[in-house]
Amino acid sequence: MKIILKTQEEILKIREAGKILAECHGELAGRIGPGMTTLEIDEWVEQYLAARKASPEQKGYRGYPFATCASVNDIVCHGFPNDRQLRSGDIVTIDIVVNKDGWLADSAWSYRIGAVSEEADRLLSVTHQALEKGIAQAVPGNRVGDISSAVQGIAREAGVGIVKPLIGHGIGRSMHEPPDVPNFGRSRTGPVLREGMVITIEPIFTSGDTGAVLWEDDGWTIRSADGSLGAHYEHTLAITKKGPLVLTSL
Ligand code: CO
Repeated sequence: MKIILKTQEEILKIREAGKILAECHGELAGRIGPGMTTLEIDEWVEQYLAARKASPEQKGYRGYPFATCASVNDIVCHGFPNDRQLRSGDIVTIDIVVNKDGWLADSAWSYRIGAVSEEADRLLSVTHQALEKGIAQAVPGNRVGDISSAVQGIAREAGVGIVKPLIGHGIGRSMHEPPDVPNFGRSRTGPVLREGMVITIEPIFTSGDTGAVLWEDDGWTIRSADGSLGAHYEHTLAITKKGPLVLTSL
């Protein structure tokens, strides 16, 4: 499949979705805390989007039953929101794909609940740093492998695990478009980044050094194989001649 380049107008449409998503995460950051359940967060997000005439693209996507993915502690990705109360010391990743007028933006964020362990704190910091290092490589003329290699370098340096099956992707009118954007790879390899490409960069790391994961029987929930913690930070961005334009930040 070919990479679908977006016009400036189309990028502005994705920005509309991304702005709503960024504001939603910003609000969440202020609300999320001990005692809250991920199901309450899920319902809150759905209402937040509805009030802005936007919708959660995940709901119904290949049968996914919720508006958000909510992944707590050793759940690394695609966790189902549930009615367990969050506790101080937990970490939780909320992953949201917003559809606004048919255009999509995708952003996941890992949150600290109350006071977290040093291990958790470090994992979240490192994963966020990998996202930033990846974004810095997203300039015209670079290749996807330059992003991948930058992300991988941070994981290697920190001794955390890369969850290799989970990767970034192109995005636009559908959630997953080419190219794949893996969190490991060699610089100067892969598709060339061109103005008008819109992609996600989404490092997903575990505090254990293998990054190995297992799927639960529900077909979605992904857990670390060694019981270690998972973290996930994701932005949607456009490649422009002025450099990376992050569409899911404030
Ligand atoms: Co994504």
